[in-house]
Amino acid sequence: MLNKELEKALNEQILKEAEASFSYLSMAVWCEFKGLEGSARFFYRQSDEEKLHMMKLIGYMLEMDTKPIVPSIQVMTNDYTSVQSIFEKTLTQEQSVTQSIHNLITLANKDNDYATQNFLQWYVSEQREEESMIRKILDKIKLIGEGPMTLYYIDKEMERINQEILSQEGEAAV
Ligand SMILES: [Fe+2]
Ligand SMILES: [Fe+2]
Repeated sequence: MLNKELEKALNEQILKEAEASFSYLSMAVWCEFKGLEGSARFFYRQSDEEKLHMMKLIGYMLEMDTKPIVPSIQVMTNDYTSVQSIFEKTLTQEQSVTQSIHNLITLANKDNDYATQNFLQWYVSEQREEESMIRKILDKIKLIGEGPMTLYYIDKEMERINQEILSQEGEAAV
């Protein structure tokens, strides 16, 4: 069994991953509605990934003989103003998730819970990779400069990034 404080914090993390999943889903929907198919594909995949992060936490808690709480999610905004602002929001969101993972590890350390510390290490690298990827994309968008004439190129660039991620995943699977 997990310690009560840790159980509560892990349940909060499940909620955060679920919120991230739905937030990315709403971004994907906004992009697709605007005809930005490359960006939409990127966010649909991110949304699926966040769901996996949530499921991993649920699985871990069950493995530790602790019943996880399946969260309910509020309606997400679908009112974004630009691709750049979406990625800026994404970065802030990911930074907040990173912070909560670090807080979870501090809690697990306090409790000498080595299994949970070990389990959470996967999230530490995942967050580092995600933040770095989002920063790179934001740099690209700023370089291209967002306007009616450049959205097409931004979306092409997103499609190129999608291909890159797909080929990395393919390599990892081999
Ligand atoms: Fe996540
Ligand atoms: Fe994430």
